Amino acid sequence: MSVLVLGATSRIAQQIAHRFGAAGHPVFVAARDTEEAARIAADVAVRHQTKTASGLFDARDFEGHPAFVADVEAQVGDLEVVVIAFGDMGGGPEADFADAHKVIDVNFTGAASIAEACAAGMAERGRGAIIGISSVAGDRGRQSNYVYGSAKGAFTLYLQGLRNRLFKAGVHVMTVKLGFVDTRMTFGMETGIPVASPEAASQAIYDAWRRREDTLYYPRFWGGIMGVIKAIPERVFKRLSL
Ligand SMILES: NC(=O)c1ccc[n+]([C@@H]2O[C@H](COP(=O)([O-])OP(=O)(O)OC[C@H]3O[C@@H](n4cnc5c(N)ncnc54)[C@H](OP(=O)(O)O)[C@@H]3O)[C@@H](O)[C@H]2O)c1
Repeated sequence: MSVLVLGATSRIAQQIAHRFGAAGHPVFVAARDTEEAARIAADVAVRHQTKTASGLFDARDFEGHPAFVADVEAQVGDLEVVVIAFGDMGGGPEADFADAHKVIDVNFTGAASIAEACAAGMAERGRGAIIGISSVAGDRGRQSNYVYGSAKGAFTLYLQGLRNRLFKAGVHVMTVKLGFVDTRMTFGMETGIPVASPEAASQAIYDAWRRREDTLYYPRFWGGIMGVIKAIPERVFKRLSL
C-alpha cells in the first residue's frame, strides 16, 4: 500500500504526503532537492509513525524513470498510489523557446514518462492509482499562459486516455484540475478569485481519491468558471485579454 509523491517540495504535495502517512501508508518522498525531500520524509515518519523513504527525482530524466520506479519499489514495496505533483509554469509567453521547451518537458513529457513507468507494474498487479495534478489552464488556450496551459492540457488528455485503458486493468487514474492555490507558483499573483490553501487542496485530492473520482476541479467552483470560459465562441474569445 505504498505511496510515491513526486515533486514533494510543493506545499500541496507535502500535505498530500502527510494525508497518506496519517492513513498508515508507507510514503516515498521524491524531489529534485534531496535534502528537503529527506526532511519532509522524516517529518511524515515522525508525525504519523509510518515508514518513509526519500530520493532524487527529476521529471526531465526520462530515460531514468523506469529504474527510479524499480528503486522506489525496492525501498517501500509495490506502489499503490503515485501522485504526480510537480509542475513548472515557466516565464510565460514572453520567455524564449528554451523556457517553453522546459515547461513542455516537465508538465507533459516528464509527467507522461513517469506515469508510464508506474502504470506498467500497476496494470500487471491489477490495482493501484495514478493521481495527476493538472490545471484549469489546460482547459482553454489563453494568451497569458498558453505554453504552460497547452502542456497541462496535453497532460489532461493523456490522463483521460490512460484512465480509459487502465480502468479495464483495475487501476484508477484521477485528473486534478487545480484553480488558484496559495503556493510558490502563485506567489505575488493578483487575482480577484478566492485562492485555496494547500491544506484544503490536499484534503480534497485525498478525499476524491478515496471516492475513486475521475476528475476533480478544486476549488470546485472552477468547474463552473471553465464551463463558461470554454463556451465563449473563438471569434469573441480572441478579442478578450485573458
Ligand atoms: N498553485 C496553483 O495555483 C496551481 C494551479 C494549477 C495547477 N497547479 C499545479 O499544482 C502542482 C503543484 O504546484 P505548486 O502550486 O505547489 O507549485 P510549486 O511550489 O512551484 O511546486 C512545483 C513543484 O514542481 C517541482 N518541479 C519543477 N520542475 C521539476 C523537475 N524538472 N523535476 C522534478 N520536480 C520539478 C518543484 O521542485 P523544486 O522545488 O525543485 O523547484 C516543486 O516541487 C503543479 O503541478 C502545478 O502545475 C498549481
